[in-house]
Amino acid sequence: MNLNYFSEQSKLPLVVSPAAGESGKNNLINWISANKVTIEEQLIESGAVLFKGFDIQTPQDFEDVAKAVDNDLKDDYMGTSPRDKKSGFVFSASELPGHYPIMQHCEMSFLPSAPRRLFFYCHIEPEYGGETPICDFRKVYQDLDPKIREEFERKGVKHIRNYSSPDDKGTNGFQLKSWLDMFHTRDKTIIEKKCAENDIICEWKEHDGLRMINKSDAVKVHPVTGEKVWFNHTQVFHVSAAAAEYHKIHQRQKRWETFKYSMLLELMTWYKKLTKNPNEQSMHVTFGDDSPIPDEYVEHIEDVIWRNMVIQPWKKGDIICIDNFSTSHGRLPYYGPREIMVCWTS
Ligand SMILES: [Fe+2]
Repeated sequence: MNLNYFSEQSKLPLVVSPAAGESGKNNLINWISANKVTIEEQLIESGAVLFKGFDIQTPQDFEDVAKAVDNDLKDDYMGTSPRDKKSGFVFSASELPGHYPIMQHCEMSFLPSAPRRLFFYCHIEPEYGGETPICDFRKVYQDLDPKIREEFERKGVKHIRNYSSPDDKGTNGFQLKSWLDMFHTRDKTIIEKKCAENDIICEWKEHDGLRMINKSDAVKVHPVTGEKVWFNHTQVFHVSAAAAEYHKIHQRQKRWETFKYSMLLELMTWYKKLTKNPNEQSMHVTFGDDSPIPDEYVEHIEDVIWRNMVIQPWKKGDIICIDNFSTSHGRLPYYGPREIMVCWTS
């Protein structure tokens, strides 16, 4: 096997690719079994390992490789993306339309049960865009303005999500999925129990909507290295985040569509700020003491993230394993077909 870093500067991710005659799925699984220590070390140091150039064809192939790395796969999901099941532990990464931006985040950072590791697999490579950029959130923590960082560390953050009723068909394209799609049950006592287990306050609203609120630290300590990691969803949940992200996306992709969505998001952000109670927005974030997070902070966080982001184009069969406690992921808009799948550990 050949080992090298995709980005020598950021040492992220480590790329494992086959030498001649080693590209079969079983070659890869055998190599993983024989090199567990290297993989574990690289997942801690680098933050991600990418298996590239192997003959991986199906969701089951993907699951087999992921299990070889870490046998502790899970199938419960308390995040925000709409996902479809593809095999025992494999799901579509997100069913959100291709032009939607998915800002960098450590998966479910706002929950006490955030998964330790994530795996992504490219089943159909994108025609244009659709990369899954990754970013070392230890570096993001270090590079943030110390004054802003201190305020986040002192106050923590409060994440708010509003889910629509399962009977509400009138989505405006920017609502989250319904709470039935999220929990797969109409039994509200089960939902309340699940929320309580995850330190989430749940409030049933008028018209059968559900609000979920949870407070958490903005920064976490890596469980192995003790390094501090930027670990919250401010750059995803904040009302100004999507517009700030799309500016960056347009600078990179420079398409008519990215210009159009950038302008549209600018207008929508302005409209939402004027008309909508922040607590009623599909996603909202404040400091832990309820004080607002200024727009300038969000722009600064976005700047730091984009400076540290590594953007690697997908190829059919690619599998990347990410240490979710140090390294974030997101998605750039895409046009044409694309199918990326995900699985995760506890
Ligand atoms: Fe995610």
